Amino acid sequence: MKHIGIIGVGEYLPEKRLTNADLEKTIDTSDEWITTRTGIKERRLAAKAEAVSDLGYKAALEAIKSAKLKPQDIELIITATITPDMSFPSTACFIQSNLGAKQAVAFDISAACSGFIYGLVLAQQFLARGVYKNALVIGAEKLSAVTDWNDRNTCVLFGDGAGAAVLAPVSSGGILSSYLGSDGSYTDLLMLPGGGSRNPASSHTIEKRMHYMKMQGNELFKLAVNLMSHAAEVAIERAGLKPQDISLLVPHQANTRIIMAVAKKLHFPADKIFINIQKYGNMSSASAATALCEAVKEGRVKKGDIILLDAFGAGLTWGACVIKW
Ligand code: UT7
Repeated sequence: MKHIGIIGVGEYLPEKRLTNADLEKTIDTSDEWITTRTGIKERRLAAKAEAVSDLGYKAALEAIKSAKLKPQDIELIITATITPDMSFPSTACFIQSNLGAKQAVAFDISAACSGFIYGLVLAQQFLARGVYKNALVIGAEKLSAVTDWNDRNTCVLFGDGAGAAVLAPVSSGGILSSYLGSDGSYTDLLMLPGGGSRNPASSHTIEKRMHYMKMQGNELFKLAVNLMSHAAEVAIERAGLKPQDISLLVPHQANTRIIMAVAKKLHFPADKIFINIQKYGNMSSASAATALCEAVKEGRVKKGDIILLDAFGAGLTWGACVIKW
């Protein structure tokens, strides 16, 4: 089997910032509550005319450039998103068209906050078998479009953005191991009930605010800590490593308290954890993708380092991936 590594990363965050102070003006919340309970200080909001493919396209362009490739070279595009431009065609096809990546096969996957890791592992399978020469994996979300801005339990948490990575065979290192999991018995904990084939859009679904996400945060918190810790342990073991061999934990950014609880279970010191939730909130599939990109841009990931991507989300889904840079 070939070694498959990440040869380029990119991100795009919309310009508009929504701070905790801004939210204090519209709902019954406080900067103090949001900061201490989640670690979030502000989040980005896409413009009205900006769809998820527009965010993903810009992150993809940066990733392709950093991989020293051209859009026409890309052979596979996987977009992880739960806020696609439309139910169909896929957001990946919109991005393919914007890029002019005519030879690429393009499709979406839906694995919520674990989507970027699911996408990396899926792309690795194609590349390791030589089916394609390279792959572009994008995590992109416009969660503001499905957020109930009257619901303080959810609206303080989420934001918009996109991250991307280009994968290709590398001479050594690359993805050393991975582990994915799902448990559909918890579908009710986080969902967008309206607009699909179960509850097609109607005046009833609009009246019941079913086109906004519904979340049971407390239940998810405990599951997130346990499942992210478990995913990390399995992936590290599959790589034949120990937690102390990991140079940097790059986790999904749902809540600083979740990240710190996972780090505590794995005995990771604070300087081995990458956190950018304070700037962006939870961007679902885009969180781990932009965190990876920023960790690289900030010089926190050097050649030879071993990084651990770790995520958890609606479904439930979870996953972790150990990568030697
Ligand atoms: O991306 C993956 C999926 N998502 C997650 O994994 C999210 C996981 N869950 C969490 O991060 C946390 O559970 C939350 C941040 C969502 C909530 O934090 P919590 O510490 O679990 O708070 P809570 O839900 O237990 O609520 C505590 C109190 C409640 O008041 P009472 O009932 O104790 O009087 C809430 O009504 O905080 C209240 N509250 C707020 N207060 C001010 C809830 N939201 C807010 C708010 N501002 N925005």
